[in-house]
Amino acid sequence: MKKHVWRPLYVVLGVIALLLAARYFLVPSDFGVHGKNFTYGFHRAGNINEWQAVSIKYQGRESCNECHSENVATNSSSKHGPIQCENCHGPALNHPENPEKLTIDTSRDLCLRCHSYLPTPGSLRAGIKSIAPDTHNPGTPCIDCHNPHKPDLEEMQ
Ligand code: HEC
Ligand code: HEC
Ligand code: HEC
Ligand code: HEC
Repeated sequence: MKKHVWRPLYVVLGVIALLLAARYFLVPSDFGVHGKNFTYGFHRAGNINEWQAVSIKYQGRESCNECHSENVATNSSSKHGPIQCENCHGPALNHPENPEKLTIDTSRDLCLRCHSYLPTPGSLRAGIKSIAPDTHNPGTPCIDCHNPHKPDLEEMQ
């Protein structure tokens, strides 16, 4: 066969060699060590430890009960019952050691995140009772009139 026919073959072999070399250096040594029969055959064993080491930032409402039982009781029995404390106060990892106190955001923006009117019917978010921020008592903090832990309208009368 003529030489020019072989040339593309050398190129292909060269590319394969490069790919194998790259694979050797780039694929971590613990990749796939569980073997093919492991559910996650193509899996890096060290990944399990990495996820176990991730600290969970959010603690959940039950964890607040020990020290803020009154707030938990009020909040749970209100229309805001489905909302986690940390949704408004931020992650409680290591609280009260560090931070000693969690954030208290008294701005209208905190509430408007969920209650600003959205012209998109059908979505879960649009199903939440909404107000138009520009006309619903503009300039006054929402919490002057609404209790953030028990916003139930029937409690306002
Ligand atoms: C082991 C007890 C303990 C637990 C559990 C705890 N807190 Fe606290 N929290 C405190 C203490 C102590 C303070 C600071 C003293 C104070 O002002 O009441 C505080 C302060 C706060 C403040 C600020 C109060 C203020 O007046 O500035 C908020 C908000 C708060 N915690 C929310 C939470 C939430 C939400 C959770 C659950 C995710 C939680 N805490 C879990 C003990 C606790
Ligand atoms: C919808 C947002 C929202 C949720 C949910 C929420 N809070 Fe609050 N929280 C606030 C706001 C706003 C204030 C400030 C109220 C004020 O200054 O009148 C506050 C004040 C507080 C305070 C300090 C004043 C007080 O009442 O003692 C604590 C402690 C607190 N929240 C704990 C909690 C805990 C525990 C939960 C969950 C059971 C929770 N909060 C859920 C918005 C929220
Ligand atoms: C000056 C007092 C006042 C302030 C400030 C205020 N509200 Fe209200 N809000 C009311 C009263 C009173 C009602 C019930 C009567 C009505 O529907 O207007 C109400 C009703 C609502 C409703 C129920 C609407 C519905 O469809 O029934 C939502 C949601 C609401 N407010 C959220 C907010 C939010 C969020 C803020 C801050 C951005 C805020 N409010 C500020 C007094 C206030
Ligand atoms: C994470 C989303 C979220 C945030 C933040 C939030 N709310 Fe709500 N709110 C809800 C949901 C969900 C309901 C219950 C469903 C409904 O009434 O549409 C509700 C209900 C209400 C209602 C109507 C209660 C009733 O009787 O129908 C008022 C008023 C209200 N919230 C005020 C506030 C105020 C004031 C703040 C800020 C301090 C706030 N919300 C922050 C989600 C939120």
